[in-house]
Amino acid sequence: MKGIILHGGYGTRLGPLTLSGPKQLLKIANKPMSQFALEDIKNAGINEIAIVIGDVYPEKVKDYYGNGSKFGLKITYISQDKPRGISHAVGLCKEFVGNDKFVVYLGDNIMRKDLNGFVKKFSSSTDDCMILLSEVDDPSRFGIAEFNNNNINKIIEKPKNTNSNLAVIGIYFFTNKIFEIIEKLKPSARGELEITDAIQLVLKNGYNLNYEKVTGWWKDTGTPEDIIHANKLILDNLKNYEKLNDNQKISIGKNSTISKDCCINGPIIIGDNCNIGSEVRLGPNVSIGNKVILKKCKIKNSLIMDNCIIDGSISLVDSIIDQNSEITTNVKINEIKLLLGQFSKIQI
Ligand code: G1P
Repeated sequence: MKGIILHGGYGTRLGPLTLSGPKQLLKIANKPMSQFALEDIKNAGINEIAIVIGDVYPEKVKDYYGNGSKFGLKITYISQDKPRGISHAVGLCKEFVGNDKFVVYLGDNIMRKDLNGFVKKFSSSTDDCMILLSEVDDPSRFGIAEFNNNNINKIIEKPKNTNSNLAVIGIYFFTNKIFEIIEKLKPSARGELEITDAIQLVLKNGYNLNYEKVTGWWKDTGTPEDIIHANKLILDNLKNYEKLNDNQKISIGKNSTISKDCCINGPIIIGDNCNIGSEVRLGPNVSIGNKVILKKCKIKNSLIMDNCIIDGSISLVDSIIDQNSEITTNVKINEIKLLLGQFSKIQI
């Protein structure tokens, strides 16, 4: 099998975080979110991957993943001029796929369960398409599978009214039959070739459509709240913790120093070359990138990316502070929620 990771889109719901790069390169628990997809595909035994890059700093994606050799993979890049839908992006990969079966993984989706079992199931089946379903609270945000008894009878994109809460998550398995279906699609109301329309046609044309329900969490990281929640979920499951005592799950990178009078409450990940100064209170659910300097502050349920400085009695909650930002304060600031793009500077 082959793998395809979709890495386009504008990520407008993430505000300033996506002005400086594609959303899928934003780090969650100190790792770009699309790397979770890449590792998932690789761990399922797939070594040939195409990354479909969009028009938001595509060179940053190529710089990070290169030809794939540092990840033990072969990576091909395929360009999509602007967001025209998931089906359109998949359609661009026809030549790359050839006669193989393949999995498409949206680079902003993260799934707790690994892909291995699903890949094995699909590669040994006679299915033309397999989708993964997960229960959601807000069906109007997703593609939804509606059922009649145990059979899917309709796949519908972002329904206003539906009797189903089973979302079609952003991991799809196809044979190359999907390409002739994609060629027949017309743009939806939002101007995109929808993947749900393609799957609906799989169903309508009488091809073999199968599904699996996903157990454990799955996250579409479309909004800042989703990223903060995904950060918590990933930290909860992180391996390689230094267990300071039974309740503390703390991962500390190389050359990072932590002052003795800090209070740290895991789960927490701290990157390399950080300086966590006196009176800092961290956690739970905090990711600190590389080369971060913290003094006196309090941080909870938040992500602080590389090269940031936070100096002063400020209490950050549910915040995302992107790379190279600086917050300094001489006054005490009670709980505040900030969303800052790269190179932000706040002095209070
Ligand atoms: C896309 C798909 C939708 C799917 C979702 C999963 O939505 O169109 O069917 O449920 O990804 O993340 P979008 O991210 O474009 O809103």
